[in-house]
Amino acid sequence: MTYEEILANARGNMGPCKVCPVCNGLGCKNTIPGPGSKGTGTVAPRNYNAWQNIYLNLDTIAENRGVDTSLELFGRTFSMPVFAAPIGAVGNHYGSLLDEGTYTKTLAQGCVDAGIAAFTGDGLKEIFFQAGCDAMSAAGFAIPTVKPWHRDLVFKKMDYAKSMGAEVIAMDIDASGLPFLKKMDPPSGPKSVAELREFADYAGVPFILKGIMTVKGAKKALEAGASAIIVSNHGGRVLDHTPATASVLAEIVDAVEGKIPVLVDGGIRTGYDVFKALALGAAAVLIGRPFVTTVYGGGAEGVQVYVNKLKAELSDAMEMTGCASLADITRDVIRYE
Ligand SMILES: Cc1cc2nc3c(=O)[nH]c(=O)nc-3n(C[C@H](O)[C@H](O)[C@H](O)COP(=O)(O)O)c2cc1C
Repeated sequence: MTYEEILANARGNMGPCKVCPVCNGLGCKNTIPGPGSKGTGTVAPRNYNAWQNIYLNLDTIAENRGVDTSLELFGRTFSMPVFAAPIGAVGNHYGSLLDEGTYTKTLAQGCVDAGIAAFTGDGLKEIFFQAGCDAMSAAGFAIPTVKPWHRDLVFKKMDYAKSMGAEVIAMDIDASGLPFLKKMDPPSGPKSVAELREFADYAGVPFILKGIMTVKGAKKALEAGASAIIVSNHGGRVLDHTPATASVLAEIVDAVEGKIPVLVDGGIRTGYDVFKALALGAAAVLIGRPFVTTVYGGGAEGVQVYVNKLKAELSDAMEMTGCASLADITRDVIRYE
């Protein structure tokens, strides 16, 4: 199965997603329900475009040692620094071909088979979070991502995640911008540093905060005891007019001073984009929408095909810039034009 065949299989089967040759946010614009971004629909394209403005510094005067794309994180070894991003409620956004259970199980297993891992999502129906935890348990590893509900519901969901064997739990703190969360009673949404510290303690496993876009936010996440942060604007779905994640990544990495790993997502589509994110200081990246396409168009095998493609591209970038390991990918291997 080739990547092009996966896209062809998926086309016409993904509800409002048109399965564009390049998933750059232009085809879906502001289509929600659907995979689009909020308001003007310009944030997802901005995320994508920002990576395209970064270039690689070719330099092959180096020892010919081969390249090692492996990553150590959360006490585990991964084949490359890429995770599938949490995508919840696929049935609402991509039509009815796959239910939440089938989607998350296929994705989590496909990722583990490919040596990486999936984050799983959350949503209004209880089954959305549970399906992710069940998939994690079946696959052996995944990272459930709970939304910033009210305290008791967060605790209840964390209890379920832990009962299913979660080794790491994430929270998409930026989900406060989703309309259904705004309407919740008791109120859900923004959380103080003290409230987040309570969640981090209650998790009892590494707790990741996803949806950090400022130096100030990163410092608050550190204060709250986060074990890692994810620079993310939720693919443009929670607030219109935000900058691209690639634009804010370096300053956030600098502010964190290596105290915890900084991950990033938003418009990362190829292994070359992964390389650029690492050069700006990310420990790893998450990729969202393209993994949905690979599962719809190719199942667990589709995930393997996409991961192989990403790995070949990242390896090419490393080899051609004189980087034998991920640690060698520093800011001097990229430039802006
Ligand atoms: C349909 C859809 C559903 C999503 N659901 C979740 C979710 O449940 N939890 C979460 O943290 N992020 C969710 N996200 C955001 C993604 O995890 C990710 O941050 C975003 O899509 C940016 O990455 P991408 O440009 O590679 O898609 C969702 C995104 C989409 C498009």
